[in-house]
Amino acid sequence: MKKYVLTVTLNPAIDQMTISNQEKPILAAGGKGINVSRALTKLRTPTLAVGLLASQSRVQMESLLRKENIVTDFVIVPGNVRVNKTFIHHQTFKAQRVFEEGPRINPKDLKRFEKKFFALVDQATIVVLAGRIAKGVPADIYARLINIAQSKGVNVCLDTSGPALALGFKSRPLLIKPNHQELEELLGKKIRSVAELKKALTRVHARGASLRETSLRETSLRETSPRETSPRETSPQETSPRETSLRETSPQETSLRETSPRETSPRETSPRGASPRGAVCVLVSWGEKGLFFSDGRVIWHAQPPTVKALCGVGCGDASVAGFVAALLRGLSLKDCLRWAAAAGAANTANFIPGEIDADHWRRLRRQIKLKKL
Ligand SMILES: Nc1ncnc2c1ncn2[C@@H]1O[C@H](COP(=O)(O)OP(=O)(O)OP(=O)(O)O)[C@@H](O)[C@H]1O
Ligand SMILES: [Mg+2]
Repeated sequence: MKKYVLTVTLNPAIDQMTISNQEKPILAAGGKGINVSRALTKLRTPTLAVGLLASQSRVQMESLLRKENIVTDFVIVPGNVRVNKTFIHHQTFKAQRVFEEGPRINPKDLKRFEKKFFALVDQATIVVLAGRIAKGVPADIYARLINIAQSKGVNVCLDTSGPALALGFKSRPLLIKPNHQELEELLGKKIRSVAELKKALTRVHARGASLRETSLRETSLRETSPRETSPRETSPQETSPRETSLRETSPQETSLRETSPRETSPRETSPRGASPRGAVCVLVSWGEKGLFFSDGRVIWHAQPPTVKALCGVGCGDASVAGFVAALLRGLSLKDCLRWAAAAGAANTANFIPGEIDADHWRRLRRQIKLKKL
């Protein structure tokens, strides 16, 4: 029985948000996988947050997470959790961020985590790998985790940057979610306009996702579905997540199916054996310009409405959660994009990354404009 969206945070943080006219900072458990789990919890989508947690901050982190009903199962490692400080001006809402590094991870602790991941992924509806990797962790860690998940029939969404993205991309996850800048880095090329973004997406797919040629689990997302819903018809409460990975047979369709996990040892799934062809689908976020989705055949743009943004940190994490929550409910690609863009926009109304108000999100969902490019 599939139970949860498994989010991975290899370098968690305490997010300390200081608003210039408020004495006390807001504290929240952070790190991108945790932020995705926060947003998923708001969207009533079961999730389990896993990763590496520094022992000296364990009590504080677990207490913060418990207050938000975010279920976790971390491997505890020596050291102190990093603190990410964000300073926000209370009138301009301009933010300045200062990141700490977090503890260095030793290979034994990483191995313990890989073992845990190997066991927990069996019950995952989908895996979300998000954020930077910790010091001491090899850049191919996400590639390895993708191979493990996919060998068990579980799809992966990858949201990271730099070498971890470049290597993870080659293991052909279902979806990567770079923001505009992360995509520029991946391709080593500036993207200054939507026309250039379209070319960039073509280039990503030329490197990667030729849908019909691959031997791996195949999918693209439906553009419409018999169950396509008006935004009002679907709320997080109304549907329950189903067991999922994406169907192998029809590349035109996404549907959710039960999988029988194949027994594979982590060693069998080394990145060396992976396809070098890259992600199946690409979801690029570009702040207030919205989301751009490409599966190598079509490109869709989801434009959110203009909102009064208090803080942009975590919008991408919220978008990933929205997309995954819709995907697991068997909704169409268009609905997935509506859910994702609305979640990103709803996140701007809060200071805590990944925090969204479900009513606000539902209202925003109706205002997302979709266009095929
Ligand atoms: N100011 C805004 N107004 C409306 N929607 C927004 C705004 N900022 C972000 N969004 C929505 O959220 C999505 C994700 O935002 P963004 O591109 O900033 O992600 P990101 O850089 O990955 O963020 P993070 O990594 O901090 O989570 C956007 O594609 C858009 O749909
Ligand atoms: Mg991001």
